[in-house]
Amino acid sequence: MDGAMQMETRMTNHSQTIQNQFDPQAQAYLLSTVHAAGEDLARAAAIVAAAIPCETGKLLDVGCGAGHLSFAVSPHLSRVVAADPSPGMLDAVRQGADDRGQTIEAVRASAGDLPFDEGAFCVVASRYSAHHWLGLEAAMREMRRVVKTGGYLLMIDVLGDEDDLVNTHLQTMELLRDRSHIRNLKASQWRALIGASGFQLVEEAAYRLPLEFSSWVGRMRTSPQRIGMIRTLEDEAPAEVREALKISADGSFELQTGLFWARAV
Ligand SMILES: C[S@@+](CC[C@H](N)C(=O)[O-])C[C@H]1O[C@@H](n2cnc3c(N)ncnc32)[C@H](O)[C@@H]1O
Repeated sequence: MDGAMQMETRMTNHSQTIQNQFDPQAQAYLLSTVHAAGEDLARAAAIVAAAIPCETGKLLDVGCGAGHLSFAVSPHLSRVVAADPSPGMLDAVRQGADDRGQTIEAVRASAGDLPFDEGAFCVVASRYSAHHWLGLEAAMREMRRVVKTGGYLLMIDVLGDEDDLVNTHLQTMELLRDRSHIRNLKASQWRALIGASGFQLVEEAAYRLPLEFSSWVGRMRTSPQRIGMIRTLEDEAPAEVREALKISADGSFELQTGLFWARAV
């Protein structure tokens, strides 16, 4: 990194960091197999298809990224709105929807400030995004505001580890890889936050997510210095951490994702 880039990095606030990290990477996320498939995505589509939560069948996907959650649920709903602060991601959603013959409305918005009326949606959803949100509690209140009472929250995110030793290593690896990382909540923290935000948990599931090291850092254009720090952290991690995260010789590892389906009460 040259001096000018270092200065730019130091001067950015969190929302600029989000845009710098994600905007140029929209195509990589559109093509990413980690994001385009997965048991969680299949379960999300099945839950939404079975629930038919209200007559208008309208879902909001917050932090839609390149749109994989929106694409998966769209066939089961009358209307899907995909929201993200990154214009590049929204273009990728429009492209992906066109390729699939789907109609998805792409709207520029952040989770903490959703430009929709109270009770405008039957389902408010998010996948693999909340660990970037500054002001997560306020964002959850905002998601509750835009969903009808009796509607649903579908929250999917990478989880923190319930064991603090493992968790500290995991969060540090995440932050070194991606400067826009804030925190992977533990499943226990998600349950508490969902309850405190006006939702009642109906279903919960956890999945293992294997992450191949070079594509994991490639998607975020992690610098060689930071890659070196992650590898050192992995190499020097205690046995419990290496075992829990299933760290391999090439740096690949596994984490857990959580799916939470909750009713708005
Ligand atoms: C990994 S991508 C999302 C993947 C996508 N949901 C999927 O299922 O493939 C994370 C996204 O969260 C978005 N994001 C970050 N901070 C956000 C915020 N405060 N509100 C909404 N979206 C945010 C980023 O712009 C990025 O597009």
